[in-house]
Formats: sequence, C-alpha cells, structure tokens
Amino acid sequence: MSDTQLRIGIIGINGRGRISRFFHQPDGRAIVAGAADLNQQFLEDFKGYCNPDAFTTNDYKELIHRDDIDAILVTTPDWLHEDQVVDCLNAGKPVYCEKPMALTIDGCDRMMEASINNNAKLMIGFNMRYYKFVLAIKELVDAGEIGDIKAVWIRHFVGMGSRYYYHDWHGVKRCTRSLLLQKGSHDIDVMHYITGSYTKRVAAFGGLDHFGGDKPNDLKCPDCPDKATCPDVNLVEEDKKPDRKYCAYRKEIDIEDNMVCMFELENGIKATYNECHFSPDYQRNFTFIGTKGRIENNELENKVYLWKRGEGNAMKPDRVIDLAADEGDRLAETGHGGSDQGIADAFISMVLDGKEPPVPMQAGRMSVAAGMLAQESLEQGGVVKEVPPLPHFVGV
Ligand SMILES: NC(=O)c1ccc[n+]([C@@H]2O[C@H](COP(=O)([O-])OP(=O)(O)OC[C@H]3O[C@@H](n4cnc5c(N)ncnc54)[C@H](O)[C@@H]3O)[C@@H](O)[C@H]2O)c1
Repeated sequence: MSDTQLRIGIIGINGRGRISRFFHQPDGRAIVAGAADLNQQFLEDFKGYCNPDAFTTNDYKELIHRDDIDAILVTTPDWLHEDQVVDCLNAGKPVYCEKPMALTIDGCDRMMEASINNNAKLMIGFNMRYYKFVLAIKELVDAGEIGDIKAVWIRHFVGMGSRYYYHDWHGVKRCTRSLLLQKGSHDIDVMHYITGSYTKRVAAFGGLDHFGGDKPNDLKCPDCPDKATCPDVNLVEEDKKPDRKYCAYRKEIDIEDNMVCMFELENGIKATYNECHFSPDYQRNFTFIGTKGRIENNELENKVYLWKRGEGNAMKPDRVIDLAADEGDRLAETGHGGSDQGIADAFISMVLDGKEPPVPMQAGRMSVAAGMLAQESLEQGGVVKEVPPLPHFVGV
C-alpha cells in the first residue's frame, strides 16, 4: 500500500476532530476524504478548513462502509468510542481512536478483540508520547542515565480546569466516568511508556471539592448574573466549542476535581499521581527516580533536569536540557507543541507501511484500566484495587 495515498474518514469533526488538518496532506501520503458528524454546520465548516471535496454524512456507518475510505479517525466524545471503533474494525478499517480508549475495561477488551479478529490495527491517540519533554525524558531513561527506575511522582495542575472540563459534558460522570480517564489517561500512559511497565495495583482518594453546586443545569455564562465576578466564567466565543458555556457550579456536575492516586507497577515501581482541576496554573510535572539519578521536567520553563547520584552538586542538576528554542505554542496552534503532527504521521505510516502502531491498543487499555480502578478505589474510600492483566488473546 506504500505507493498509494491513504484515504481517511473521520467521525466527530469539531473540537478534537480538527486534528483532521494534520492528517490531510494533499501533496503527501494521505487525505481526509470523508467525515461524519451529527451536526451539519460542523460538516460545512470542516469542508472549509480541511477538504472542500470531502464526502460528508450524518451517519457514521455510511462513512465506514465506503470502499473509497481506507482508514478511520474516531474523535467523538468518550462514551461513543467503544461501539464506533468496533463497527469500524468490523468493517475491516484500521482505526485511530482518541483517548480514553473507552469508559470500561470490558469495552477496551471488546475493541482489542475486534481488532484481532478483523486483522485491522487500532492505535490510540496518546499524542503526549510526541511531546518534546516526554521524548527527552525517554531518551535519558533508555540511555541508562538514571539506572533502574524505582519511583515516579506525577503532578497535573489543570489550570483552566473549569473551562476545559466543567462547562460541558466532561463534568458529568455518565459521559466521562472519571477525569482520571478523560485527563489522567495521558499521564498514566506516559508513566507506563517511560517505565516500560503497566500498573498492577492502585489506591486513590478524591472528591468534588470545588466545582458543582446548586446552579440550574441550563444556566450559561453569558446569561449569568454573576458573570462579572465569577472566576470561572467562560465568555470566549469558540467555533470549536459552542456548547462550552454551561455553569461550572451547576447541579448536574458530579465528577471529581481533586484526585490523589498511588500505583504499584508490574516491575515494583512505586508511583503517585495527583490531578487537580482548580489550580490556577496549567502544567504537568513528572519526575522519575532511579538507582543512578533523577529526572524532572518543568513545563513552564520548557526544561528537563537530570541529577546523577554521586556526581556533581546535589543542589544543582548535572544537566539541563532546554527545549524552549523549538517549542512553539505548546497548547494550541501547532497542535500540542507539534505532537499532533507527530501522531498523525505515525498513524499514516502504520497503515501504509504496515508498521506496528506506535501507540498500541494495549497501552490504551492499560491506562483505562489503571484510571478506572483508581476511580473505583476513590469511590470506595481508598480500597486497594488489583488491575486485571491484558487478556490472553492479545498474546502478551
Ligand atoms: N489527545 C488529546 O490531546 C485530546 C484533546 C482533546 C480531546 N480529546 C478527545 O477527543 C474526543 C472528543 O473530545 P472533544 O472535546 O472534541 O468533544 P466535542 O464534544 O467538542 O466534539 C465531539 C464531536 O463529535 C460529534 N459527535 C457527537 N456525537 C456524534 C455521533 N454520534 N456521531 C458523529 N459525530 C458525533 C460532535 O458533533 C462534535 O463534532 C474525546 O474522547 C477527548 O478525550 C483528545
């Protein structure tokens, strides 16, 4: 297939679906040739910013059964991934599925089974694997700079947490199940990826400590009498997110905004993961401590620090890797600091060159499993939960 131009279809075109622009390469190896979305206006917009000649439909099943569509991107909300991906795989099409892979472990296993039964590859949208600081840490770890990793501490300060997660469907458990899946699955995957080990057991505490409340479910920020003083007001006009205006303090909000998790990985590594959605700043901070040293990133400074045991000065890092020079806008225009182009190219190469997926479905399943059981643990007051290993049919 390597001489042909891949023809991609996409389901769920607005919001994250705008990643289509990284897959659409008319002079390159792939084009986005079709799109399905329930919203007709989004489909019209898509033709404007991506491909005016694309086939469009409101029914994703019509898209996935077309002979002129070779592969599918599933970028719909979380609760739709499982059924839509299984349908695509049963139609024999390789799939890129956004994170989290599904809302249940059984759902993930069903998707993996469909992939294997239909010999159709499934890749998960963990674009963080292409973040520059993640690549830099991975390189140092793989080069043995910190020896064998024994501890991982991760802190995720989700500044703008209300804007991203509490003004629309993300704030409601029936849609999202847990922000440890919706948001945390990225971080858990990075932990698994860097350490080369999946989570074995987990315990967690958490709560809805700030958002939610007694405001009406249909209250929108532009109509709110408190809009001049509310710290979480969202008055930004966004084509991508026209519905992201509902009050962050409305009654239906039930998803935790403050989580503290402990993980033990299969190879004995002890890890902590903290996620808070009312932090004023937006950054992720990872540290990996090994037998020979420690690595830590600082996202605001765009730097990675390396300390080596028994060398140099304990008060100063032995090496500082400055990523700032080529980082660009890490949040938006360049597509998460260039990582969206990285993951799009990897998917195209996976399909056209027959390579193994760079972010395999097993990784998607194990990050959902770890996040899901952390969620169950926190709902039961911190009970320790064992993570079910990958099912035998994936051949591990
Ligand atoms: N990897 C990342 O960095 C990243 C970033 C943002 C979102 N995401 C993921 O992308 C997914 C979508 O999130 P979002 O924030 O863009 O959601 P969204 O609600 O803003 O957009 C979802 C799109 O799907 C469409 N849609 C809804 N139901 C549909 C259906 N039944 N058939 C066809 N289209 C349908 C909507 O009209 C909309 O265009 C989520 O799973 C989210 O976790 C990933």
